[in-house]
Amino acid sequence: MEEKEAIKDAFTELAPRYEKVVDNELHKFWGWSYYAFIDNLIYHTPTINGDRILDVATGTGLIPRKLIADKRNANITGIDITLAMLKNAQKITAKEKTDKKIGFTAGDAMLMPFRSNNFDLVMSGLATHHMNVPKLLSEILRVLKEGGRFSLADVGGASIWGSPIFSFFIKILAYIYFFITENKDRAWAEATAVANIYTKEGWQEVLTETGFTDIRITKLESKNIWVPDPLLIQANKPYQIPGEEIK
Ligand SMILES: C[S@@+](CC[C@H](N)C(=O)[O-])C[C@H]1O[C@@H](n2cnc3c(N)ncnc32)[C@H](O)[C@@H]1O
Repeated sequence: MEEKEAIKDAFTELAPRYEKVVDNELHKFWGWSYYAFIDNLIYHTPTINGDRILDVATGTGLIPRKLIADKRNANITGIDITLAMLKNAQKITAKEKTDKKIGFTAGDAMLMPFRSNNFDLVMSGLATHHMNVPKLLSEILRVLKEGGRFSLADVGGASIWGSPIFSFFIKILAYIYFFITENKDRAWAEATAVANIYTKEGWQEVLTETGFTDIRITKLESKNIWVPDPLLIQANKPYQIPGEEIK
């Protein structure tokens, strides 16, 4: 099955239960509540009045909802490839009466339907491991304005994840774990995601190669040493020097 279709199937099935399931999983893996994890990302992401913010792979829109709840004065858009997740995001924001403040767009984050140099800030939570990271990062760099900021929180592997044998072993384990606790679509989506999990050093390298600057990567607390760590990652799109071609 094509990877994107498998992801859509997995998240379509998961959509009605998404926040509860992720909350349970984050408690089990890292000792974080899902809501506290996103709050921590928001806390470490300053915004400026009137910022145009894009949330990549927004899911049920928790990042935009939390930004509004935190009284950030911004124009917020969320993009996601799974319609069922976006429908839930719309349902929740209508109920919370935040739907007029957040726009949702269906689409692939690796080929976004947005013009270049469009957003002041791009955010993302728990999603980059479902995508081809170099492709995703060049799209993010394209849609960010010069001097724009990128801020995300996601899973990151320890150095041993660089070993193909270890990574293959984890892929099998992930498939078995999610097959037992969830279903085969989720098992496939999470097992294929293992190859997209970058170490802290890997993130530094891929962000630099894409053209980001001011890269800051912080390992967040986790209660289990055998689970890949949560990372908070921030970087900027540099200002273009006149006459110099940007990557
Ligand atoms: C684990 S959820 C994270 C959702 C949300 N960011 C959060 O913090 O809860 C991963 C999301 O990534 C989305 N996704 C996966 N691949 C994508 C792609 N290529 N383009 C856009 N969204 C994608 C899925 O549909 C799903 O909603």
